[in-house]
Amino acid sequence: MKGLVFSEFTNLVDEKFGPEMIEDLIDATAPASGGAYTSVGTYAHQELVNMVVELSARTGVDTSELVRLFGHHLAKVFSTKFAEFFGEVSNTIDFLKQIDNHIHVEVAKLYPDAELPVFSFDDSDSQVFRLNYSSTRGLADLAQGLIEATSDFYQEKFQIERIDSQDGELYQAQFMLRRI
Ligand code: HEM
Repeated sequence: MKGLVFSEFTNLVDEKFGPEMIEDLIDATAPASGGAYTSVGTYAHQELVNMVVELSARTGVDTSELVRLFGHHLAKVFSTKFAEFFGEVSNTIDFLKQIDNHIHVEVAKLYPDAELPVFSFDDSDSQVFRLNYSSTRGLADLAQGLIEATSDFYQEKFQIERIDSQDGELYQAQFMLRRI
């Protein structure tokens, strides 16, 4: 996983729980990389998972809630760091349609070793927009936070339902967005 993700996780922990917390997480989880994350590096995904589990144990906040919160934080960062993607479309659904065939394609050019999920969508029902997430990393909570924060960005409100499933090592989630 890209160092950008790790450095933003560090920033979020600093912001929400204070600067000592991240040091405690690194001490407790003893990451093989040493924990000096730079945004251009690439690190084992498991190091992030271990820190989230440790943070949950120390704060009493569920891991899924922490990952969703991190999705909100990342979306805010992306909306300034990658503002052009947000400017190209004018609403949440058009933005979500662009992730797989445009946004993550550009991300992969920028970071050739990025490990990206696969998204597909179904917009055949005018009442509900379906977005399907699939990845071996099982970060549907991160996707949920990113979706929620994207709708905040475009100032739209949706009821979001989610059905998770697993097929061997592949984690899948179907998100159903209904305008409210
Ligand atoms: C401008 C918008 C976006 C940018 C620049 C972006 C960029 C990235 C980057 C850099 C990674 C990390 C890859 C790695 O560390 O190897 C990533 C992963 C991911 N992205 Fe995006 N992304 C964007 C929008 C979204 C949105 C809206 C969603 C959700 C619907 C999403 C879902 C995910 C998920 C869940 C991952 C974690 C990897 C996985 O689950 O396999 N992204 N993205």
